[in-house]
Amino acid sequence: MVMNMGKIKKLAFGTDHTAVEIRERVKEYLQNMQYEVEDFGFCGNESCDYPDYAIKVAEAVVSKRADKGILICGTGIGMSIAANKVKGAIAAICWNEDTAKLAAEHNCADIICLGSRNATISEVCHRIKIFLETSFEKRHMKRILKIKEIEEMQCKR
Ligand code: RB5
Repeated sequence: MVMNMGKIKKLAFGTDHTAVEIRERVKEYLQNMQYEVEDFGFCGNESCDYPDYAIKVAEAVVSKRADKGILICGTGIGMSIAANKVKGAIAAICWNEDTAKLAAEHNCADIICLGSRNATISEVCHRIKIFLETSFEKRHMKRILKIKEIEEMQCKR
């Protein structure tokens, strides 16, 4: 068993129907690392709408019910667009190990978005592991604050 020794304990997890084959294996992988995984539902083989899951996961993260979020759709694109509509959420689509690391380290992302159609199960799991184990580097904070300013300005419009 691989222990998760970091501060992140609780994960919010959501997928659409494209992840039917991999979702249980991803959850199992995370639970084996001692993460507590809250699964925000599933539509089985039925076609469903990724924004329905993106909002639940993003709201769980923003409200601090979860420490980080994981979203999987076909490409990761729809989930990232939808999750970023929730005020305070920073969702990043990560298409390789490097972007998974940089999303946490430079962009302070709290939600990783992945594509079930463009990655293997082991690539998905590995990217999530890297994302969860990488800390934000404070030197990038001024850029994050500028993003927050944009968000505040948009909310007032
Ligand atoms: C569903 O077919 C697909 O559009 C969805 O999973 C996602 O890739 C959208 O970005």
